[in-house]
Amino acid sequence: MKPLPPPAFLAGVFCLLLFLQSSSSAAAATTAAPSTHHPGTATCDAGKPFRHLVSLRLANCSADSVALSFTALKALSTLQSLSFFNCPVSAVRFPSDLALNLRSFSAVRSLHHLTGIWLSRLVNVTDLTVSDVPVNASGPYVILGNLKYLKSITVSRANLTGNLPKHWQSNLTHIDFSGNQLKGRIPNSITLLENLQSLNLSSNQLNGEIPTEIGDLIRLKNLTLSSNS
Ligand SMILES: *[C@@H]1O[C@H](CO)[C@@H](O)[C@H](O)[C@H]1NC(C)=O
Ligand SMILES: *[C@@H]1O[C@H](CO)[C@@H](O)[C@H](O)[C@H]1NC(C)=O
Ligand SMILES: *[C@@H]1O[C@H](CO)[C@@H](O)[C@H](O)[C@H]1NC(C)=O
Ligand SMILES: *[C@@H]1O[C@H](CO)[C@@H](O)[C@H](O)[C@H]1NC(C)=O
Ligand SMILES: *[C@@H]1O[C@H](CO)[C@@H](O)[C@H](O)[C@H]1NC(C)=O
Ligand SMILES: *[C@@H]1O[C@H](CO)[C@@H](O)[C@H](O)[C@H]1NC(C)=O
Ligand SMILES: *[C@@H]1O[C@H](CO)[C@@H](O)[C@H](O)[C@H]1NC(C)=O
Repeated sequence: MKPLPPPAFLAGVFCLLLFLQSSSSAAAATTAAPSTHHPGTATCDAGKPFRHLVSLRLANCSADSVALSFTALKALSTLQSLSFFNCPVSAVRFPSDLALNLRSFSAVRSLHHLTGIWLSRLVNVTDLTVSDVPVNASGPYVILGNLKYLKSITVSRANLTGNLPKHWQSNLTHIDFSGNQLKGRIPNSITLLENLQSLNLSSNQLNGEIPTEIGDLIRLKNLTLSSNS
């Protein structure tokens, strides 16, 4: 009986398969292969004897060229960065190895719809971007509550409901919750984020006073609060 190949090898093979399937031409998995013609861009590390796939970006894919499956994603558990741009494929539950490994996750006009619970399983991400994807959650705290290493969060034009959370990760540099249906006040606790560089809460239904201490945030460069009640 032959021993099973290590998972990293499978990931490499999967990487190639994904390219073959979605663009009918193989791309080298060893270096980043940015291209406007291929829907996928993959980056692998320099691990020996097998390189590990660490970054995968899928753009402009169609539902018949790329289908996510739990089994296929299991072979991609070495990924640290995964991004979908304009990929209307259905989201599936991520295997826990993948969910724990990801440092960066992005979905823009992709994956049909997501839930706060689904996003909250990506516990080790520092960068989270979800834009133009409806996200069902009883509030942003469902997502933020679990992701303790967050530095940058964008959940925009997602029809997200609820109130802004009272507790924030102290390392946050970027917060963008624009274009949702968030209600209530801007909590004073946001003025304690001394690393905050940009805050975009435009186009929500927030009300009440803007905490004056927001002026104390010396790193804050972009503050957008337009179109609220
Ligand atoms: C995706 O499609 C858009 C519009 O057709 C195009 O501008 C963009 O370059 C494409 N991106 C990639 C990575 O293929
Ligand atoms: C990710 O998070 C889990 C659970 O919080 C933790 O045990 C693990 O060490 C973290 N890092 C990786 C690479 O999984
Ligand atoms: C948000 O809701 C509005 C009105 O219900 C709808 O028109 C819009 O498409 C939704 N946006 C998303 C990203 O689902
Ligand atoms: C959002 O989640 C709630 C609670 O799980 C559910 O009752 C509701 O139908 C969901 N809404 C959508 C649009 O999926
Ligand atoms: C916050 O950032 C500091 C400095 O980069 C780092 O040492 C610390 O571990 C970070 N904390 C969390 C919870 O990520
Ligand atoms: C804030 O968000 C709105 C809507 O998503 C966007 O149009 C605008 O460019 C953002 N502003 C900044 C400074 O990022
Ligand atoms: C502020 O907004 C401008 C224009 O949208 C952008 O170019 C710049 O990178 C933003 N700066 C930060 C710190 O987000």
